[in-house]
Amino acid sequence: MKRFSELSAVRIKQCQPQDIESIYTVINDAAKAYRGVIPPDCYHEPYMPIDELSREMQQMSFFGWQDEEQLVGVMGFQLVKDVTLIRHAYIVTSRQRQGIGSQLLNYLRELSETRWLLVGTWADARWAIEFYEKHGFHLLADKDKLLRTYWQIPDRQIEVSVVLGLKLS
Ligand SMILES: CC(C)(COP(=O)(O)OP(=O)(O)OC[C@H]1O[C@@H](n2cnc3c(N)ncnc32)[C@H](O)[C@@H]1OP(=O)(O)O)[C@@H](O)C(=O)NCCC(=O)NCCS
Repeated sequence: MKRFSELSAVRIKQCQPQDIESIYTVINDAAKAYRGVIPPDCYHEPYMPIDELSREMQQMSFFGWQDEEQLVGVMGFQLVKDVTLIRHAYIVTSRQRQGIGSQLLNYLRELSETRWLLVGTWADARWAIEFYEKHGFHLLADKDKLLRTYWQIPDRQIEVSVVLGLKLS
């Protein structure tokens, strides 16, 4: 109970183009979790350069979690064909494992109107897989096909990624 009452002072908002610097800060702080874990050729700093983030923001909606005025978590929400993708889920290092990712995921799940919610992540990011599994997602066997159908990512990333899905209806 305490965990959630502490979170009640903060809230979810839909990010706007002017939030790009804050989103950039959140993603590149949180993505340090990948350093030394995912294949070295897939990790670079900043993990997401600002021009790439700007392109991503044109493709999807980002929702953020604010601690008072400060953005501390983000999650992208993208409708592609007949599914909804959860993209770029990042909570700043100092606020991870305090329920914020769960709150954002539950919120986006409610917003989704498709039959399937899909998320792709690095196969080596065991904590992220566990996070989604706790929310009812399952690893999907046909991940290469799914990644080619619903994402636009390099072949190398497809090779070392997994896809989890949650059937909503
Ligand atoms: C994955 C992430 C978005 C989850 O958000 P969060 O606010 O930390 O997650 P919650 O507090 O709601 O849920 C925590 C659960 O997620 C899993 N988890 C999250 N971070 C973990 C870590 N570092 N180690 C182990 N498990 C972790 C655990 O199952 C944890 O439950 P527990 O604390 O009871 O063991 C966040 O930890 C993050 O930004 N991680 C780094 C970047 C990343 O992996 N992004 C995912 C991209 S798809």
